Amino acid sequence: MPGDIENDIDRVLIDRDRIAARVAELGRQIAADLERDTKRHPSDEHAGEIVLVPILTGSIIFLADLIRSMPLKMQIRVISVSSYAGRTTQSRGAQLAGELPPDIEGSHVLIVDDILDSGRTIRLVRKLIAERKPATLRTCVLLRKEIPEAMATPCDYVGFDVPNEFIVGAGLDYNGYYRNLPDLVTLRPEAM
Ligand code: IMP
Ligand code: MG
Repeated sequence: MPGDIENDIDRVLIDRDRIAARVAELGRQIAADLERDTKRHPSDEHAGEIVLVPILTGSIIFLADLIRSMPLKMQIRVISVSSYAGRTTQSRGAQLAGELPPDIEGSHVLIVDDILDSGRTIRLVRKLIAERKPATLRTCVLLRKEIPEAMATPCDYVGFDVPNEFIVGAGLDYNGYYRNLPDLVTLRPEAM
């Protein structure tokens, strides 16, 4: 139903200014780390390339902000992961939808996602990309939920740790909506 999405907001968890400041800081930190790596492993042809691998669709706004504070020569190769429902937590999972970038062997790869929840998405993508033998492989998420599964998932860069609530905005969706809200918010129960 059409309407003003602002009316569906319950609480603002992290506002746009805090997001912008933290993402710029993360970008500078990641860029410094990647630059150090590319110098340590000097490049010949495609080896040594920096390749960002954002997971669609939730990461798009985070990615757009992040890369503008990373003044490095880089490629962007988007991928898509779909989750499949299962009746138990054990049987639920994530699967790659489409192709992995073909030529990432020897590259410095950074996986970018919106939120680390159960960790299935990051674990899956990390494993699939590791099989392609990148020179280095890092993961970066805007948000990480304060739950044991998320905390136990290896992740190199985290924007914010957040409470275990359903969050939308800044790229994160509920049923495909609310990605365009500039702040990270929770929704009123009537909206869900
Ligand atoms: P994981 O595989 O369980 O870590 O889930 C990660 C994916 O679930 C994210 O890429 C999001 O698409 C989605 N997700 C998990 N928690 C939230 C949330 O609070 N708001 C919106 N999407 C979420
Ligand atoms: Mg997602």
